[in-house]
Amino acid sequence: MSATGHQKWWRDAVVYQIYVRSFADADGDGIGDLRGITTRIPYISSLGVDAVWLTPFFPSPQRDHGYDVADYVDVDPQYGTLADVDDLVAACHAHGLRLLADIVPNHCSSEHRWFRDALAAPPGSAARRRFFFRDGRGDDGELPPNNWPAAFGGSVWTRVADGQWYLATFTPWQPDFDWSDPAVVADFDDILRFWLDRGVDGFRVDAVTHVGKAPGLPDMPPLEDGVGEIAAAGHNSYGMYWPSAHNVWRHWRDTVDAFECEHPGREVVLVAEAYTARRPDLLMDYVRPDEFHEAFSFDLMLAPWHAPSIHRAIDDTIATLHANGAAVTWTLNNHDTQRIVTRLGRPEAEDPESWTGNALSTTGTDIDLAVGDRRARALTALAFAVPGSLYLYQGEELGLPEVFDIPDDRREDPVFHLTDGEGLGRDGCRIPLPWSTEAATSFGFSTPARDGSVGEPWLPQPVAWGDYAAADQAADDESMLAFYRRLSAARRLRRWPARSSPS
Ligand code: GLC
Repeated sequence: MSATGHQKWWRDAVVYQIYVRSFADADGDGIGDLRGITTRIPYISSLGVDAVWLTPFFPSPQRDHGYDVADYVDVDPQYGTLADVDDLVAACHAHGLRLLADIVPNHCSSEHRWFRDALAAPPGSAARRRFFFRDGRGDDGELPPNNWPAAFGGSVWTRVADGQWYLATFTPWQPDFDWSDPAVVADFDDILRFWLDRGVDGFRVDAVTHVGKAPGLPDMPPLEDGVGEIAAAGHNSYGMYWPSAHNVWRHWRDTVDAFECEHPGREVVLVAEAYTARRPDLLMDYVRPDEFHEAFSFDLMLAPWHAPSIHRAIDDTIATLHANGAAVTWTLNNHDTQRIVTRLGRPEAEDPESWTGNALSTTGTDIDLAVGDRRARALTALAFAVPGSLYLYQGEELGLPEVFDIPDDRREDPVFHLTDGEGLGRDGCRIPLPWSTEAATSFGFSTPARDGSVGEPWLPQPVAWGDYAAADQAADDESMLAFYRRLSAARRLRRWPARSSPS
């Protein structure tokens, strides 16, 4: 509860995640944009949600679709302008919706000015201290400084022209920041303030478990047999969950708390993306009272269709977080995970042992989408009913399945390319949304350009994508969309005490 006696809005909010590139394209170039989102605010509002989270819309070479940020305080021209952000914030607030931005603190783009300056500066310079530049091993420094695997395949290390190496946990185009450098801390203070001053109501904070590394960057112990290339980074306890990161989050919380004090009526939320599979105790570290307000619990999303596992995922999370006074934050889908109707329609979905979590590399054989649809409805109803907040991902309210049939040369996710296809990647859950049955406008995704042209959508839509069109589902009581609207209406009915409105 706040000092004025009302419940903080985010504690039981339903938040709708928008993958900006795939939501709605207002200028006919085949790429979603901010103006497209603004035109669809009535639709979002009709879902009965409380807030919108936008995936990164900042200038970016788009090597990881915006999670490689080249400037944290501007907008990528593909997506619009700062004025478009202002319009979107205003439109959201006018509809009683809050707006969350997505901040990426672990790494920036290799095209960011800070990294370019670091490359141009000599070893040991202040510009290089923002990142992890190290000499290599071997007689001529020709071997990487340690054995850490990257999250999307290969080594974390990339060698630069003068012979040093830099560390990048995800792709070589995403160099990690060294948060022990005060310049990094100061710059992110400015970034948070910049967006808060523009009216943003909070931040989803990306990949927080990777922030902070063991001093000296020691070799990680050898992996157990059978750990695949993509899973390997998750086993590196020197590059994940390192305690020093919590100083950063406490500092961010101070920044946000100070902002709220200076701006009565503003209630800001910091929500952490912290993958801590089946370890609510680890998750709890991020939602201590002076750190993040919330951290996604992914355990329900990663649970098999197996009642004891689902039960355990809910009970363990609630027991651990509530005992410590922290809010619980559920989600069943996001832009990194195969879509729920597909996951739950798999023959192995009921087997507690064979479930592979977000199944990045699993293809689409023997999936029964009718079964997946029914199970998805049941699990979604449960997620709406349990205490806590709930984050939805665009398209789940349409029952969209994962799309597998994407030609290799149209796949964009670096996971696919860096693992030579061993990891299928995440494109299949990022297909541009079907709004109507009109194939000529990419099923309503694109508004034609001034000259009437409609660009090809950035990822190909299946020919039958119109079967999921939002417009048709809106008119059908049995549709997934109608089901979601009923769930959120029922949830709103039981809310007490009142929540504040965005200001
Ligand atoms: C997070 C994002 C994911 C991104 C990665 C690197 O996990 O959700 O999309 O690729 O971080 O920034």
